[in-house]
Amino acid sequence: MPSSINLSTHQEAHIENDAILEDDIQFLAPLSQHYLAPNAVFLTGATGLLGVYILDELLRTSSANIYCLVRAIDEEFAQQRLINHLTSYGLYKEEYFDRILPVIGDLTEPFFGLDEHVYYELAAEIDVVYYSAGWINMLYPYSRLKPANVLGVKEAIRFAGLIQTKPLHFVSSIAVFFNSADNTENQVLTEADVPTFHASLKGGYGKSKWVGDRLVAAAQERGLPATIHRPTRIMGHSITGALNDNSELLPQLLKGCIKLGCYPTWDIEVTMVPVDYISSTMVHLAASPANFGKAFHYFNPYPIRWLDLIALVNAQGYNLKEITYEQWLLALKKAIDSPEESHLEDREFYSRLLLALKVPHYLFYKRPHFDSKNIAEGIAGTEISCHKIDNELISRYIRYWQKTGFCPKP
Ligand SMILES: NC(=O)c1ccc[n+]([C@@H]2O[C@H](COP(=O)([O-])OP(=O)(O)OC[C@H]3O[C@@H](n4cnc5c(N)ncnc54)[C@H](OP(=O)(O)O)[C@@H]3O)[C@@H](O)[C@H]2O)c1
Repeated sequence: MPSSINLSTHQEAHIENDAILEDDIQFLAPLSQHYLAPNAVFLTGATGLLGVYILDELLRTSSANIYCLVRAIDEEFAQQRLINHLTSYGLYKEEYFDRILPVIGDLTEPFFGLDEHVYYELAAEIDVVYYSAGWINMLYPYSRLKPANVLGVKEAIRFAGLIQTKPLHFVSSIAVFFNSADNTENQVLTEADVPTFHASLKGGYGKSKWVGDRLVAAAQERGLPATIHRPTRIMGHSITGALNDNSELLPQLLKGCIKLGCYPTWDIEVTMVPVDYISSTMVHLAASPANFGKAFHYFNPYPIRWLDLIALVNAQGYNLKEITYEQWLLALKKAIDSPEESHLEDREFYSRLLLALKVPHYLFYKRPHFDSKNIAEGIAGTEISCHKIDNELISRYIRYWQKTGFCPKP
């Protein structure tokens, strides 16, 4: 495992320092008595893609009350946000109502933005913390993303050690390894490997996730029972195909190809992980103390070539034509310049897509090979498995996108 540290600028030294946990954060309080069969769980990111499935998994597999940190103006609105979000994914049941407890706050603020006494009351009641929140933005620099992706994590670590120690299950990203030091030819990165800080770490988002990841690792070393979960690209549910936030580049790109009727010839490998595989694995792993102190890599064991993926899209009734990337970019620019007033919305979509292709993103990034022995061991004997990227999965995604109007029918 390479261990080089390359601090080429002052800013990078500063970023690395952000991954140091303050001395006053300690885990000396007794462990919650209910940490294996929790009465009360604290969850961040429940209004997001992965968070809503973690919420669903916890509601279905435990009897715990789930306190969800939500940005909202009042409790009624916060509860409605959570119910609407679960409903939009087809997950809400009336019987869940009393167990979903909104906590109005913001991760970027001290005490999560809560009144101090509410914060301490929660710290005494919560048995386990799941942290799925994050600001995913490939355009902004580290400094913009730091409050949500770094300070929020630190706040959660502090919270986990307060009054009673609560296991923390943290969603990081495989992007913490996307730098030239960790990504050498034929390198296999295991879950025991430490992601190194390196100037080449991709973008502000990757840097902010690296700091969050390292803070939780430092807390593990200091005695916090914690797990670190590093997914690759998260996509819709493997059975329902549900994916309501399609802002990630891959759905945008597939929509762009479908709308333009053509696709670029790329020789790249594409990976994606259905969200339900991550949520069910994560909640399952969190229930076993043998997993505390470990990290887990979520990637699809069956990645797919871009051209094979397009063949699966075409198998849904489309007839997309292959052209060079230069020609495809020209087609995209032509669509942006379309003078027709009725194409205003389309023009905005195409412009955003063009912009997204111009900034660093992970689609073209040559990934190291990953190993996920910890997950394989952790889910052995269960029915949990990652759905292959095959015709069945892609047809479910495309049908859902057609049903919700995200992309046109053939
Ligand atoms: N999506 C992927 O492909 C992918 C891949 C690897 C790792 N990850 C990581 O997985 C986690 C979940 O991703 P996701 O796709 O579920 O993200 P998402 O759909 O964008 O949801 C993000 C969640 O974080 C919340 N959040 C953001 N800033 C917050 C703040 N300041 N205070 C409170 N809540 C805040 C959002 O709340 P609002 O609804 O109020 O905005 C939302 O609930 C993230 O940590 C991400 O970095 C994602």
